[in-house]
Amino acid sequence: MKRPVVAVVGATGAAGGTLLRVLHERCFPMADLRLLASERSEGVRVVAGESEHVVHAVSDALLRGIDLAFFAAGSATARKHAPTVARDGGVAVDKSSAYRMDPEVPLVVPEVNAEALHTHRGIVANPNCVAIPLALTLAPLQQAFGLRQVTCATYQAASGAGRDLVAELRQQERDDASDAEPHARVYPHVLHGNVVPGGWRMIGDDTEEEVKVIAETRRVLDAPDLAMSITTVRVPVAVGHSAAVFVELVRDAGGEDAREVLRAAPGILLVDEPAAQRYPTPRAVAGTDAVHVGRIRRDPGRENGIAFFFSGDNLRKGAATNAVQVAELLLSGD
Ligand code: A2P
Repeated sequence: MKRPVVAVVGATGAAGGTLLRVLHERCFPMADLRLLASERSEGVRVVAGESEHVVHAVSDALLRGIDLAFFAAGSATARKHAPTVARDGGVAVDKSSAYRMDPEVPLVVPEVNAEALHTHRGIVANPNCVAIPLALTLAPLQQAFGLRQVTCATYQAASGAGRDLVAELRQQERDDASDAEPHARVYPHVLHGNVVPGGWRMIGDDTEEEVKVIAETRRVLDAPDLAMSITTVRVPVAVGHSAAVFVELVRDAGGEDAREVLRAAPGILLVDEPAAQRYPTPRAVAGTDAVHVGRIRRDPGRENGIAFFFSGDNLRKGAATNAVQVAELLLSGD
């Protein structure tokens, strides 16, 4: 699979569009590129790199002969079509939650558990867009000091819920600016000028997002018993998920030791000069691949405690870039 025939399923969506950009930026080798979406997009033209492509409604027939299919079209589409790709000898790299907890399907953040890829049987899952930066920042601390407990509160961008919520947020901004009444159709609350600790399906007392982030982070870190607490929150930001993270380590680190470990870790950019007002923000990280980490300090509220804050582009490292990194590893055979 040196120059694969590639399909992007969900090419008209927020993550799919970013995927096309990342493939082009990284000069991903392709013999051919097929753009697929729902029936609504049949015939739509989309620019990918230097060429324009016509989008087709996804079907098993159009996935025949595909070596590598990126799925960014939700769980139902992945469940329906990813097995076809795998059966025909190709590999499906799926962004949805459909296969993330399937023990037969590796769940991969390349900087953390690339070796899990070796076990794939034609489907590879990408973690959730918060679980990726969370696992990325916890893994070096786990390796250096051991993890005992993690507490986390998230600040998640509208694009995590798809392009429709971004459009709704933009409209609400305009409505508020012109003293019109903003409306919420895509989300249960007006997001502009607001902070919403919900909007996901509930599973008991937890949001589905909270359940997913905990399960997937544990799986990527290979720490099934790691004690984790999380509240997921949607904020009026278009792109860039952030989180405040509090960690109880097995061995004492101190702010300085933790900072040095995170500075040396792959995929992370330290932005940590709070006195100079330099710390991670979603605006600064949007459009880039590294997860920004800062506000690293001792947490006096817990034994061997460390606190930090991260921001990562949820469409890039949280979705597209992670998927393309996985594909690059598949191509290199490492
Ligand atoms: P379409 O544009 O035709 O609706 P986002 O996450 O930004 O909302 O984007 C979702 C992506 O998934 C879009 O490309 C969308 O295509 C695609 N999609 C949604 N439902 C289906 C489906 N049933 N089959 C194929 N693609 C789908």
